[in-house]
Amino acid sequence: MRHPVLFLPIAALLLATTPPALADERELVKMPPRMQAHMRANMRDHLLAVHEIQAAMARGDYETAARVAEQRLGMSSLESHGASHMAGVMPPGMRATGTAMHRAASRFAVSAQEAGVDRDLARAVAALAEVTAQCVACHAAYRIQ
Ligand code: HEC
Repeated sequence: MRHPVLFLPIAALLLATTPPALADERELVKMPPRMQAHMRANMRDHLLAVHEIQAAMARGDYETAARVAEQRLGMSSLESHGASHMAGVMPPGMRATGTAMHRAASRFAVSAQEAGVDRDLARAVAALAEVTAQCVACHAAYRIQ
């Protein structure tokens, strides 16, 4: 039964906690269609890289995990995915998030190499979560379309 004294605060709470996905408050970052396509292709490779890293760690292949992270997501990936070109169209906050992701990936690569020696998988997984935290942060704040 709907008791108004209970129902109203509950309804208010539900409204206040409506998921943000319903209202798109991400900042639109304008760029030419070719750059959009380039960025999306980079992104799909980022996801593939995260997948390859997890699969490698699951089989204890920390060297592969470290290499994929450094070369495809880390500071060594900047040249190959045209970061300086892309950075030019990004607002400062977006650029900073991208840089934070590249730095976190390079730190993860070190953690993964260390895990190869001391088998501290938890520390490596935590370092990987710092990488994906930047994926999440940027996706929550920006869109290109
Ligand atoms: C600096 C910002 C930023 C970072 C960091 C970032 N992304 Fe993205 N990503 C975007 C934006 C912006 C889009 C496009 C969103 C839209 O559709 O408007 C996107 C789209 C994507 C897509 C969809 C690609 C498509 O074909 O449409 C995938 C997959 C993706 N990102 C994966 C990742 C993963 C995995 C990471 C972390 C390893 C990551 N991204 C880090 C900004 C970022």
